[in-house]
Amino acid sequence: MNKKIAVLVSGTGRHLQNFIDKSQDLSIDIVLVVSSSSQALALEKARGADIPCYVRGKKGKEVAEHYSQDIFTKIREARADLVCLAGFLKLLYIPSDFENRVINIHPSLIPDFCGRGFYGSRVHRAVSEAGVSRTGCTVHYCDNLYDHGPIILQKSIKIEPGLNPDMISKKVFELEIEAYPEAVKKVLTKFL
Ligand code: GRF
Repeated sequence: MNKKIAVLVSGTGRHLQNFIDKSQDLSIDIVLVVSSSSQALALEKARGADIPCYVRGKKGKEVAEHYSQDIFTKIREARADLVCLAGFLKLLYIPSDFENRVINIHPSLIPDFCGRGFYGSRVHRAVSEAGVSRTGCTVHYCDNLYDHGPIILQKSIKIEPGLNPDMISKKVFELEIEAYPEAVKKVLTKFL
């Protein structure tokens, strides 16, 4: 039987689209998309694939425990087995019944270039400025810190001379698009 996945987004939803495209191969049903923004392009992708959506932004100084409660109520109602953060930019507070069932992808080799403020092009700019020889992506279980928790898998590339941050970003995303479905497959075998 297919496993049920909830995907949490804030932006363009390229990973969401990748999951939609590979859902048959992964034996998954995407039962819910949660967005922290009503403007996220990802919502159009979700609606185009007839996936129920829930928009829940952070209200003012609201703490993560508070908005996360609403989000996990919806996730429980949708009966999701696994929650995939895919460009979700808010800190999430994970309740005990979802420990080890929330995963994230980050476009660097954790523990480098991650944590608060390291998102999108900022990550690749920092990598480029630091002059490191390799970068890549990490899929990891989430705890209640940004980009933190046990690593499921990493993929890396060598940074050839002359690569600018945009080029690095493009190359890392090519890794991500392989790495995230691979990690989902790996995690889901634990539920079988
Ligand atoms: C990717 O760089 C991913 O590593 C990060 O968010 C970006 C993808 O966002 N967590 P999206 O799927 O294009 O919205």
